[in-house]
Amino acid sequence: MLYSELFNNSLRKFKDNAEEKRLEIEILLREAFNLSKTGYWTRKNEVITDKNALSRFYRWRSRLFKGEPLAYITGEKESFSRNFYLNRHVLIPRPETEILIEEAIASLKEKKNPVEVLDIGTGSGIIAINVALETAARVAALDKSRPALQVLKKNLVLHNLRDKVIPVCADLFPLRNKYKRGPFDLIVSNPPYVSEAEWEELPVSIKHYEPKVALVAAEDGLAIIRRIAGGAKDYLKPGGRIMLEIGHGQSKKVAEILREAGFFKVEFVDDYNNIPRVASAVI
Ligand SMILES: C[S@@+](CC[C@H](N)C(=O)[O-])C[C@H]1O[C@@H](n2cnc3c(N)ncnc32)[C@H](O)[C@@H]1O
Repeated sequence: MLYSELFNNSLRKFKDNAEEKRLEIEILLREAFNLSKTGYWTRKNEVITDKNALSRFYRWRSRLFKGEPLAYITGEKESFSRNFYLNRHVLIPRPETEILIEEAIASLKEKKNPVEVLDIGTGSGIIAINVALETAARVAALDKSRPALQVLKKNLVLHNLRDKVIPVCADLFPLRNKYKRGPFDLIVSNPPYVSEAEWEELPVSIKHYEPKVALVAAEDGLAIIRRIAGGAKDYLKPGGRIMLEIGHGQSKKVAEILREAGFFKVEFVDDYNNIPRVASAVI
């Protein structure tokens, strides 16, 4: 069988959503046979001889067919043009979170050294790591999920950041001395903000594969945001900032929560669909 035949047979298996899966199948094929993009295109009409790679591809293809997201199958995803290791214990990085990362970096660039940042709900570490690589900040990266912190630790090794980013296992908020860092100039978080009702409506690729603890919060998705806003002021320096990714339609309530918790200068940044996605405020 030729590579091109394997690709076309695979595409046919996906029937209705074949066009949508075209790129994902090509990526799986390249990863399984360890081919670069150009390698794949130049060898398309060669006969497949590597039986191990072929059975790997079949295993991966059947996972894709069942609805598993590509990122969990390949074990990697890009964020901010950097590669991150991941598995099913962490959320797959979303493009919207790059807006939060950009805003966090921009707010820190004005600061003089040393800058201290706390990333709450760090997961794979995309926020903590991108911020640490783009600024002079030292980051405490907190998550209550131990398996998620294992993923973060692998990414810290991958990005050579074990001195600049410290993992903290805690349900927010832990005792101050547990951070070994702080008070903080910035508390940043992409917290769980999906309501139970919204979770029920999510596609299989999310509901059956991504960790519910990373996505769902009680009180219409606002419970963790309330806890972060309520506790943050004890951990921030005077004039320190909080930055949160929020869900569709939550901006009004989040503004109230932040003001009630004592924050001012509450502002929002829209995402690519003009939906307020990042809340920012100062204490
Ligand atoms: C939406 S994910 C964000 C992951 C990553 N920061 C990103 O942006 O891709 C939320 C993370 O918060 C963590 N989390 C949920 N509840 C928590 C709590 N009470 N205390 C600490 N971490 C929590 C989850 O384990 C998950 O890793």
